[in-house]
Amino acid sequence: MKIDKLTLSFKNKIVLRDINLEIKPGEFVFFIGYSWSGKTTLIRSLIWDFKPERGDIVLDNGWFLYRNLTEKLLLDYRKDIGVIFQDYKLMESKTVHENVAFAMEVCGYKDKQIQKKVPQALEQVGLLIKKDTSVQELSGWEKQRVSIARALVHDPSIIIWDEPTGNLDPVTAGEIMEIFEDLNKSGKTVIIATHDKNIVNHMKRRVITFSEKQIISDKQEAEYNLEK
Ligand SMILES: Nc1ncnc2c1ncn2[C@@H]1O[C@H](COP(=O)(O)OP(=O)(O)OP(=O)(O)O)[C@@H](O)[C@H]1O
Ligand SMILES: [Mg+2]
Repeated sequence: MKIDKLTLSFKNKIVLRDINLEIKPGEFVFFIGYSWSGKTTLIRSLIWDFKPERGDIVLDNGWFLYRNLTEKLLLDYRKDIGVIFQDYKLMESKTVHENVAFAMEVCGYKDKQIQKKVPQALEQVGLLIKKDTSVQELSGWEKQRVSIARALVHDPSIIIWDEPTGNLDPVTAGEIMEIFEDLNKSGKTVIIATHDKNIVNHMKRRVITFSEKQIISDKQEAEYNLEK
């Protein structure tokens, strides 16, 4: 996908200014930048939660996100981008399986597909053994994995993780990167917005740095380049 001169404001306050960016299928990309630099806003623009006042997002099939996408195509497009947000909402009293299944039920999948897909997605995040555990009994990290599984059930080609602020312990961080590396190896585009210097330095992938509403650097095989 190609983001072309994208500018977005909330109530006359510019939040993203003239963003130009191309992400190719199968890439592994980090978005870094201080709080409020616009990472989440850009991610939400990618799924048309926000409509920019200027600029385009051109999809790999040549369609323009805000211009010529029909309602039917928009639904398919949204299924093709799995976003895990910072404030992921899970139903605490329901089980792991029920939470992931719900994401499919609301999209009208048949029961048979749900019974097949949910265990597959839970397996991908290493949570199949906890499928009948209720979410309120899980650790924060396990809840994150439920939300990743929920994004995977539509088999998206792009997966975006908007990491919650707050540091993961090194073991957990390693485990989560393994999940995303596996997804990337299977051909999916991975985008991770993070404040975690260790993760970025360990992975050495493409790093896109946001500051003051703009992209200030974009480097391949890069390290974390912000002072903490
Ligand atoms: N729905 C909204 N209405 C008004 N302003 C918003 C809205 N969402 C975000 N903003 C503003 O957009 C700016 C960018 O916020 P954004 O959440 O994109 O930053 P971020 O880089 O994701 O930060 P963090 O690293 O803390 O997650 C902030 O100034 C924020 O106040
Ligand atoms: Mg954010």
